[in-house]
Order: sequence, then structure tokens, then C-alpha cells
Amino acid sequence: MCGIIGYAGTKQAAPVLLSGLDALEYRGYDSAGAAVFCGGKIKTIRTAGRISELRAKIESEKPEGTVGVAHTRWATHGEPSERNAHPHTGSDGVFTVVHNGIIENYLVLREKLSAAGRVFLSETDTEVISQLLEENYDGDPLAALQRTVAGLEGSFALGILCADFPERIYCACRESPLLAGTGGQCSLIASDTSAITDKADKIYRMQNGETAVLDKDGIAFFSPDGIRIEKREIKVDRNLDEVGKGNFEYFMEKEIYEQPEALKRTISEHISDGRLKAGCPVYGVNLIKKIFIVGCGSAFHAAVVGKYVFESLLKIPTEADLASEFRYREPLIDDSALVVIISQSGETADTLAALREATRRGARTISIVNVEGSSIARESEAVFMTRAGREVAVATTKAYSTQLAALYILALYIARETKAVDDERLGSLTRELSLLPGKVSEALNRSGEVLRAAEKYAGRSYAYYIGRNLDYASALEASLKLKEISYVHSEAYAAGELKHGTISLIEDGTLTVAMCCCGRLAKKTAGNIEEVAARGGSVLCVTTAAIAPLLGGDTKIITVPSSDELFMPSIEIIPMQLFSFFSAKLRKCDIDKPRNLAKSVTVE
Ligand code: AGP
Ligand code: GLU
Repeated sequence: MCGIIGYAGTKQAAPVLLSGLDALEYRGYDSAGAAVFCGGKIKTIRTAGRISELRAKIESEKPEGTVGVAHTRWATHGEPSERNAHPHTGSDGVFTVVHNGIIENYLVLREKLSAAGRVFLSETDTEVISQLLEENYDGDPLAALQRTVAGLEGSFALGILCADFPERIYCACRESPLLAGTGGQCSLIASDTSAITDKADKIYRMQNGETAVLDKDGIAFFSPDGIRIEKREIKVDRNLDEVGKGNFEYFMEKEIYEQPEALKRTISEHISDGRLKAGCPVYGVNLIKKIFIVGCGSAFHAAVVGKYVFESLLKIPTEADLASEFRYREPLIDDSALVVIISQSGETADTLAALREATRRGARTISIVNVEGSSIARESEAVFMTRAGREVAVATTKAYSTQLAALYILALYIARETKAVDDERLGSLTRELSLLPGKVSEALNRSGEVLRAAEKYAGRSYAYYIGRNLDYASALEASLKLKEISYVHSEAYAAGELKHGTISLIEDGTLTVAMCCCGRLAKKTAGNIEEVAARGGSVLCVTTAAIAPLLGGDTKIITVPSSDELFMPSIEIIPMQLFSFFSAKLRKCDIDKPRNLAKSVTVE
């Protein structure tokens, strides 16, 4: 799930590898390493810490050579440590490997290889790959690679050096993304475009089971059964990868403030002059009897918003599903089901697997993704692109907002197609949606009161978030935002549920954040707020000017602009993103790269 970069060319490899790792750093990791051919020998340098520490080691050890691979690790087997950091070399010192993914049959392989006398130096699953390559090696590295991957179960993107062929890199992939590219007198491999768009003129996406051999003159691709193939290069939006922080200190802050523009780009692709521009992206929607909206993390929270919006507008039974559950719960799906897959990266392993399960069961599928050509986009029947632009911060903000907009627009397309709402309501919703970017801007302009709230509560070690209906969906996302970047424990509850247990934890000063923008349920939520306040809890409430008078005197209120209730999740999440950002900054957390997290979780 983390990062791989490889370079075979005429320049010194180390600087190219480090610059590639810098570009991949946003994906999150816990350790890093590199291997460079120096004087015909493979020199490996690794660190348990950040890329900056690897850079310092490389600068002191000066590995001179024009071919190498490098890796950022997100540990799945074996603690984050120098010993477990990649690359890993087999006992014979012939094959050196960097790997993204999980080898599920590593234990059986490790036992067999140990019994054959191979000595393992790490606790990782990855090391079985380098050892197995050496077991399978008879002088032809590519044949050894093809035999090795045939014996692996699980997921892998591999960059491999073979000591007998110092000018080459070998690679393979299955269920873990890997790109290969060629530039002036060089070839490269990388986990995503951000690491090679500035170095490669042509970029290719490795497909499951394919292998390749790279050197300074180019790339030879091979099909899963070992036949030489030609591949088409992929289209890459190169300017999207030139992402800096601009005038901001953090990518997350920059991306929070990019939301109005991201929403404008996403909405204007489908709505102009208050009208839907195109046809429904899903054909035959009149035959749809049930909708499943599936994602992980924030994408799942968007799915919860989608459930309420779809059922309210379309009157079609709609379920929001966690992808990691959906893929194994044997969902009752046939060709009358529409499965909406949501994924910013388009590479999340559980979400990709859920898409495949839906397809296998005959469902219609459409994915809402932010990365062109990603695995989920390529395997979906239809694609709805969000136009958030490259999102670097691990904690999603602008991509989440554009996912909500995509769900609203998709609902409007289907509502028009199925005549679920009359033209007047359709028109008013479409016009209201086109005003959303401006209302998000207005919410952003009220950051001062959010900062004051964060200053008041930043020291708390836990918080509860409550809301009803769409406010509950927003409470889920607001809670995740706080905990993932500020490390404050928080839980989200349906407001009516708090009294069924968790209210026992409310004591003097306990922070409870109430999302209360759903007018028809405001009195109910106001009652829940009183239940918390009556037990000494401190309540911070996000609401609109119209609802605020219903709320008790001690409640700290943050007001947001109002819109149609269906679109309020896009507005009420803004102060919560800012609240989390300010809290994390006050707590001196690593905002853009929170500990243990990765931007794209390409392992189970
Ligand atoms: C959200 O801030 C997290 N980064 C995480 O929950 C994320 O939403 C989840 O991993 C899904 O990622 P995806 O949208 O790329 O599939
Ligand atoms: N499973 C391998 C390990 O734990 C690779 C993890 C990754 O994708 O970074 O080392």
C-alpha cells in the first residue's frame, strides 16, 4: 500500500529514487529503504524512520550507480524497523526486492524455504519473495520471477534487482498498483504517477499477472503466460501532479480551502444554467430495484449521506455498506441492483474487491473516483469522476466534498430518468446545487469561531459526535476527521442512540459535538443536546441561523449557511474539517501524514 520507485538509466539513481519517494510520501509509511547497483554489487540502505533519515544515510554512504529501487513501507508483517524495512535480499545475495502488498501464503513458504536451509533476517512476508526467487533461479531472472509469482498468494507490486544483471530492473504486480515508464535514456517503475510524471514521457499501467524487464533503453512487457506483449501508454493529467502547498503550511489546510473550486469543477461538468447537462450515466435505471453504496472510511460516510439522499429522492431501497464487510457478507444482489462504489484513490483493496464481488453477482456498477484510469475506474461499468484534483493530505476533505456532490448529481440524474421527482422539484434542487460552492466558501469564511472552539477544546482526550439522519452521516465523518489527525478518541452516534448506553460516559466537561442542520428533526436533536448538558457535558453545535434559537443557552453554536436539507452535509462538514485541523495543529500533530495511516490502503 505504500510506495515503490525504480530507475534504470544513465544518471545517478540515488537522487532520482529519493525524489520519487518524496513524491510518494503523501501515501503514508513507517520506514523506507533503497538499493543501488554500485560497482556491480547491490548496496542496500534502510531506515526505520522518515525519508529524510534515508536521505541522510544515502548522502553519507554515497551509493554510486545508475540502476536502483526504493520503497516506503506501511508494515503489515513485522514491526516498523530498519531490519524489516525494504529492500530485502535472499540468502544467496542474488535477488533484492521491494514489495507493496501482502503475501498471504508467506508462512507456508517461509517454513519450506527455511527447511531448505534459507536464513531469514526479517519478520516480513516480503522476504519470502527474494528467497523464492533464488530457489527458482537457473540463470534466467525473468523465468525465475514468473515461476515465483505463480507460487504466491495475495497481492504484490514488485521491484527487483538481480545481481547477475546490474543494468536491469524486473517487476511484476497483482492487485497492487504499479506503473512503468520510459524517458530520455531511462526506464522507471512507480506506485503512482506522482513519482514519475516529471521523469517519464510514456507511462504504462501494469496489469495483474504481467511482468516486465527494464533497462536504460526501454521496457519489455510480458503477459501472465510469459509472452512478450506491447502495451498502450496511459493518459496522464501531468499538471495535476505538480502539487505544492502554495501559501499554506499544510496540504490539508490547502485542500480544505480548495473545496469551493473542486466543487465548481465537479458540479459544472454536469450542471449549467441550473440544468443537468447530460444523460444519466447509468442506463436502464428504471429496472433498478435496490441500490448499494459502498466505500471505506470517509468514502463510506459519503455512502451514508448517499443512502439518505437516494431514499428521500428516488424512493429506491438504498444501503450504505462498508466495503470490507460487503465483500464477505454474500450481499443479496442480482442484475436489478445498482452498486455505487466510492473511492478517492480508486485503488483501495477492500473497495476494489467489493466492486468485483458486485460484478460477479451481476449487479450494475458505477464508481465515483478521483483518479483517472485507477483500478476501480477501469473495472466499473460506468465512472463518475470527481474533479477534486490530486489530494495529498491523508485525511480527505476536498475529495469527500466532491464525492457528496457526485452523489447528489447522480441522484438527480436518476430522479429525472425515473420521474421520481417532478420537474419543479428537480429544477429547484439543481439550481440549489449549483449554489453549493458559494455556500461552502461562506462556511470557510467563518473559521474564526471554529478556531476559538478548537482552542477551548483542543486539550480534551475524547469527544462524542451526535446527529440524526443526514446530520448523523456528517457526525460520522466529523468524528473520523478529529481522531485521524489529532489522535483524540472520538465516537459518532445517532443522536437518539446516545441514551442507550454511551450517555453513561458523559460527565462534567465531556465534549459532545452535535450536528443539527436537519430542520425537521432539530427539536429532537435539541432534546438530545439537553440530555448531554443535564449531565455536565459541554456541547458544541453546528447548525443554521434558523435552528439556533431552538438550542439551550450553554450550547456553543457554530452557524453555517443553509441550503436544501439534502445538501447540508456538504456545508456542515466544513467547520468540522477546520475544527479537526485547528485541534491537530494545537496538539502539534503530523497533520498531513498522521501516524499509522496511508492515503491509499491497497492491502486488506
Ligand atoms: C479519510 O480521511 C481517510 N483517508 C480514509 O478513511 C479514506 O477515506 C479511506 O481509506 C478510503 O480511501 P479511498 O477513498 O481512496 O478509497
Ligand atoms: N507486506 C509487506 C511488509 O509488511 C509490504 C507492506 C507495504 O505494502 O508497504 O513489509
